[in-house]
Formats: sequence, C-alpha cells, structure tokens
Amino acid sequence: MKSLRSSLSTRRPRSWLTNAALIVLGGTTLGTAITLDVESQGSVKAAAKQVAYDMVHFYTGNNTGDVPGNLPAPYYWWEAGAMFGTLIDYWYYTGDDTYNEITTQALQFQVGDNKNYEPTNQTKTLGNDDQGFWGMAVMAAAEQKYPDPPAEEPQWLALAQAVFNRQAGRWDTQYCNGGLRWQIFSFNTGYDYKNSISNGCFFNLAARLAVYTGNQTYADWANKVYDWISHTGMMTADYHFYDGAHTTLNCSDINRIEWTYNVGVFLLGAANMYNLTEGAEQQLWKTRINGMLNSSSLFFAPAPSPPNVMWEQACEPHGTCDTDNYSFKAYLSRWMAATTKLAPFTYDFVMLRLKASATAAAAQCSGGASGTLCGMKWTEGAKYDGTTGVGQQMAALSVIQANLITNASAPVSQNTGGTSKGDASAGTGGSNDGNPSAPKNAITGKDKAGAGILTTLVLIGVIGGCWWMVS
Ligand SMILES: *[C@@H]1O[C@H](CO)[C@@H](O)[C@H](O)[C@H]1NC(C)=O
Ligand SMILES: *[C@@H]1O[C@H](CO)[C@@H](O)[C@H](O)[C@H]1NC(C)=O
Ligand SMILES: *[C@@H]1O[C@H](CO)[C@@H](O)[C@H](O)[C@H]1NC(C)=O
Ligand SMILES: *[C@@H]1O[C@H](CO)[C@@H](O)[C@H](O)[C@H]1NC(C)=O
Ligand SMILES: *[C@@H]1O[C@H](CO)[C@@H](O)[C@H](O)[C@H]1NC(C)=O
Ligand SMILES: *[C@@H]1O[C@H](CO)[C@@H](O)[C@H](O)[C@H]1NC(C)=O
Repeated sequence: MKSLRSSLSTRRPRSWLTNAALIVLGGTTLGTAITLDVESQGSVKAAAKQVAYDMVHFYTGNNTGDVPGNLPAPYYWWEAGAMFGTLIDYWYYTGDDTYNEITTQALQFQVGDNKNYEPTNQTKTLGNDDQGFWGMAVMAAAEQKYPDPPAEEPQWLALAQAVFNRQAGRWDTQYCNGGLRWQIFSFNTGYDYKNSISNGCFFNLAARLAVYTGNQTYADWANKVYDWISHTGMMTADYHFYDGAHTTLNCSDINRIEWTYNVGVFLLGAANMYNLTEGAEQQLWKTRINGMLNSSSLFFAPAPSPPNVMWEQACEPHGTCDTDNYSFKAYLSRWMAATTKLAPFTYDFVMLRLKASATAAAAQCSGGASGTLCGMKWTEGAKYDGTTGVGQQMAALSVIQANLITNASAPVSQNTGGTSKGDASAGTGGSNDGNPSAPKNAITGKDKAGAGILTTLVLIGVIGGCWWMVS
C-alpha cells in the first residue's frame, strides 16, 4: 500500500473528467451492432472496414489547419502512433488502402528534427514508451511491406533503427542495475520510474530489428532487456509483468498492477527471438513464450463472461479505465496474432482466444448515432457499455482483423523480400544523444501537465481506491 501511495503521487493526474464526458456523450444503443462470422474472411473484412471507418472518424489531423499525426484531446501523442500502427495492420490484413495516405503523411510528419520520433512539440509527454509506439508502427510497415515513402523522405526501417538507437543510448545503469526510465526528460513526472512498457517496447523493437536485419547487436540488446526485467522482479518467475518501480528506491517498490499490453509486447519480442535462434536457445524462448501465454489467462475473463474473451482486468470490471487503458487490448490482440507467424506452435492457443474475443467485441459495437460504435466491454454479450473513443475502436478493430492472420503473408526481412532501407546509425544526430537533457525550447520543470502513456495509477487510485489491485 505504501508503495502504491508513493507511486500515486508521482503519476500524472489527468483525464478522469474527460472520461466522464466521453461516457455521457457515448450515445444511445440502437442495437445495430456489427455482424461478424470469424470463419468468413468476407465477414471479417466487412466488420473491420466499419470499425476502421468509425475509428478514423475521430482523427482530425488531416483537416485544414490541424497537425498531421495528432489526435484531438483527450488523446495523447503515443495513441496516435498506436492508431497508425493499427491502420498499417488494417491495410496488411484487408488490402484496403483507403487510409494509407493519411497514415504515411502522419508517420512522416511526426518524425521530428532528428528523424527519430522525438518531435519538439511533444517534449512534455514524451516517454520512452510513447516513442516506442511510433517506432513499432514503422517497424510493422517494414515487416509488412507497407508502401515505402519517396526516397528523399525517412524510410520505415531507418526510423525504427533511430528509435532503437536513441533508447539504447538511454539505458541507465545508475539505478536498478539497468533499464530504461519511463520518461525521457528529467523534468517530466515519471522520470524516476522504470516500467515494463518502456522496456517492453525497446525489447520488442530490438528483437524485430534483429530478425529483419540479421544484425546480432539488436539480439544482444533484446537479451539484455529480457535479463534485466527478469532480475528486477518486474517480470515474475511465472511470467507475469508488473507495471514498474522507482529509481529512487532502486526498483525495490514494484507496483504490481498488470496490464494486457505488457505481456503482449514481450510476447511478440520473444516470438521474434524464438524465430531467430536455434537449438537450446530457441527452446528457452519457447519455454518463455509458453509461460507468457499461460500467464495471459489473467486477461481472459472468467464466467459469466463467455470463455476466452479478453478483458482489461485491472480497470474494466470496476469501470475505472482511462483514455489510455481503453486501447490496451488492441496491442495484446495485435501482438498475439503476429506471434503466430513467428512461432507457429502458438497458433491454436492464440486463435481460440482471438476468435472468441473478436466475436464478443463485434457484438457490442452498437453505440453512437451510426449504431456501430464500440464500447470497452466485450464480456457482457451484445450490451454496449456507453463509452466511445479511439481506444475502444482500435481494440475492436485489432481483435477483429487479427482473425485474418491465417491467410496474411509472413513478415519479411531484408533477406526475404523486405524493401525498406535502413541506416544503422539513424537518429543519433542532434544535441541530446543518449542524454536526457532538454532541447532549447523545452518547457520548464514546473510543467507537470504532460501525459505519456499508461500506467494511470492516479486515476484508478482516485476513483477506485484500490488495494486489491496490488495485492
Ligand atoms: C481526412 O481523412 C479521412 C479518411 O481518409 C477522410 O474521410 C476525410 O475526408 C479527410 N479530410 C480531409 C480534410 O482531407
Ligand atoms: C508543432 O506545433 C506547431 C504549432 O501548433 C505546428 O505548426 C507544427 O506543425 C507542429 N509540428 C509537429 C511536428 O507536430
Ligand atoms: C540495486 O538493486 C540491484 C538489484 O536489482 C543490486 O544489485 C544493487 O546492489 C542495488 N544497489 C543499491 C545501491 O542498493
Ligand atoms: C500457469 O499460470 C498459472 C496461473 O498464473 C500459474 O500458477 C502456473 O505456475 C503457470 N504455469 C507455468 C508452467 O508457467
Ligand atoms: C519463423 O517465421 C517464419 C515466417 O513466418 C516461419 O515460416 C517459420 O516457420 C518460423 N520458424 C520457426 C522455427 O517456427
Ligand atoms: C549493427 O547494429 C549496430 C547497432 O546499431 C551498428 O552499430 C552496427 O553498425 C550494425 N552492423 C551492421 C553490419 O550494420
């Protein structure tokens, strides 16, 4: 409890008011819903098309005078990166290129001065995890052969390498024997926190870069991050991923809240390592993957929910999810599906869950004026829960389109048809390499208004008062 309180005081208070507003605006249930037969590719594509359309409806970055790549409040910058990653997947799964133009525009517009997804406008909210979500979006673009940008613009692979290079430079051995801090800049709240998602994004990217490029340096880093997270206890011996811990206490105060995306981000990284390695090393990764799949049972709801339906157990049953949390199931869905390509022995286990979850997700998409908007809760049958937003759409879209994975092409590498051009030293220009000092026009240390991703204990603590979560 003490540690939860102390981590609460360092969280960024935010968004519970906006959440309440969104719930009120959620609209009435018209009962239209989205019909989905997960065994029919045509049905899955049609459902994905509707949910994608409703998701993009929230995007304003292509309107005259708006900034490409940004979502309007209350969404933070990272979630836009996650959304464009989802739209790359949408094209990969369905072949529908309706949103490619806005996706490429956004991914290019937000690269920042040093082409590494550290745009100056986002200094207030830029955590390693925030940057990581944009990095994983462009990594997927390279792996899925999403159309390459014109040669004079930054290329997908080089951008992913830039994010990797920046994060490797920020590996911090001063506290907790290693690890990335949550925040990049020392004046942002959360700089004194090391967490699973920041290190998980870095691990995921390193493992995928190792597969794509064949460069052992990336694999070495993936091993290093994995060893670190297991030694800190942030990942347990039975493969549960806890949220994080403070540098000020040398990471002894582990906050035990568990989110879907943490196991997901490590799962896909582990699947890439499995695919890359051989012999005993490969068997070790197989054991780890099986352990993570086993521990993910926490994120599939017990009865009375239908079996194998995903839920965000830390907040969803209590109605305490915030704007970030609404989207997390998108990432576990996305990364479970991608895992089946790299580690095919996971296929049956994963598909059972993706089918049940997609069916349940679609059944409750009956909100808003259109009667097709999705809520958060997939576990209560055809009942729409009255919430609306990018996160809910993204989660439903991700789990629905993931059911097209069987016939989707395998991710490519440089040796198997990948065309994205890399640059092993990308992103390392600029003045603050590996060193979290503020750019010239940064906000002062007093400004704690920023956001970043996740971890959201403030909100949950404030609303729920919730020790059950950490015990
Ligand atoms: C922005 O993109 C969406 C989706 O492609 C489209 O419906 C909308 O018309 C676009 N808006 C502008 C101003 O181009
Ligand atoms: C940064 O913000 C300014 C002012 O809103 C805007 O004009 C510019 O396009 C933004 N750039 C990026 C990369 O977001
Ligand atoms: C911090 O914790 C690590 C184990 O994670 C330990 O090896 C190290 O000695 C600790 N450092 C201090 C200063 O307590
Ligand atoms: C599987 O998960 C259960 C529940 O989390 C745990 O008790 C058990 O030890 C796990 N088994 C393995 C092999 O990891
Ligand atoms: C590695 O991934 C490829 C591409 O999906 C797949 O064909 C292959 O079977 C995987 N290797 C192993 C050992 O599972
Ligand atoms: C492999 O990656 C490392 C780390 O980015 C880089 O320094 C090195 O030049 C790369 N090697 C090759 C052959 O590209």
